[in-house]
Amino acid sequence: MIKKDIIILGIESSCDDTSAAILKNEAILSNEIAGQKVHEAFGGVVPELASRAHQQNILPVVDTAIKNAKINIGDIDAIAFTRGPGLLGSLIVGTSFAKSLALGLNIPMMEVNHMHGHVLAHFIDDEGKIKPQFPFICLTVSGGHTQIVLVNDYLDMEVVGTTKDDAAGEAFDKTAKLLGLPYPGGPLIDKYAQLGNPDAFSFTAPNVTNFDFSFSGLKTNVLQFLQRNTKNDKDFIENNMNDICASLQQTIINILFDKLIKATRHFNINEVAISGGVSANSGLRKRLKEEGLKQGWTVHIPRFEYCTDNAAMIAIAGRYQYLSGNFAEQSVSPDARLKI
Ligand code: KG4
Ligand code: ZN
Repeated sequence: MIKKDIIILGIESSCDDTSAAILKNEAILSNEIAGQKVHEAFGGVVPELASRAHQQNILPVVDTAIKNAKINIGDIDAIAFTRGPGLLGSLIVGTSFAKSLALGLNIPMMEVNHMHGHVLAHFIDDEGKIKPQFPFICLTVSGGHTQIVLVNDYLDMEVVGTTKDDAAGEAFDKTAKLLGLPYPGGPLIDKYAQLGNPDAFSFTAPNVTNFDFSFSGLKTNVLQFLQRNTKNDKDFIENNMNDICASLQQTIINILFDKLIKATRHFNINEVAISGGVSANSGLRKRLKEEGLKQGWTVHIPRFEYCTDNAAMIAIAGRYQYLSGNFAEQSVSPDARLKI
């Protein structure tokens, strides 16, 4: 018997991006993302505005994903949606939409943990890219999370290290704000850092046990550093933007890699992946490649579009739930603090 292709609609709405994707087996046919400019003026995501924008975006985004995948709505076998973690009001929009559509089409649905999605994005077909072998270690770095995840199988993963306070993405965004850069500042720090000297300034690294992280001290350290230097030179930031960004970025990357290296040695694992929005950072990607050669790791770096929030990763994570027969009930509700 010829096995039927499985077509999954993925829906992601955990923060400020509304996204829908169509996955056929392990290949992405479409991956649409509607961002929300409305938050820029506020220097961060405003939850109420985010859920309103999701409501406006969700239907056109799903519609476009179906059209661009060149399938009919009736071809969809199942719907995968993000149940959490994330902003409750945002999650409600994606969850309710998925539930209604699954009911209307009379097809099953799968609830996906957003963090599983980031990790499992590595299993999307991508020409020339080798998929990770189990077990592997994944450093998941995003705006809301910083985790070292021990991945034993598609649906069996364990967080072995996490942040005690701010996430790596917040470390980028909050320090960028101190430099007067708009939200989200991570990509801008990356841009300026490429032109600067990473050894120009030094910032303190935290002292945290095990494989855990802390970034709140860095923010205070940067604030005091800027106050000290702008006292006598009001143009200090402007004149040193590239060097400050390069030094900051290097500090964050060093903090992350210190623990990542420790974890790989402790668990004796040489398959290492990165994921999440911050894995789009050029310095982080370069360092992983360098460290891979040095430590003898096989490294896995996702395509840019699968680093930041997207529904393709939710669809692929949903596929493994589908294959295991883990379906969600219509009574499912979002969980803003859903754990891996
Ligand atoms: O995974 P993501 O899209 O959303 C969350 O689940 O949080 O991650 C967003 C985070 C933001 O903090 C953003 O500044 C950061 O990823 N980010 C970057 C870069 N691109 C996105 N940080 C540093 N360098 C980048 N190139
Ligand atoms: Zn994310």
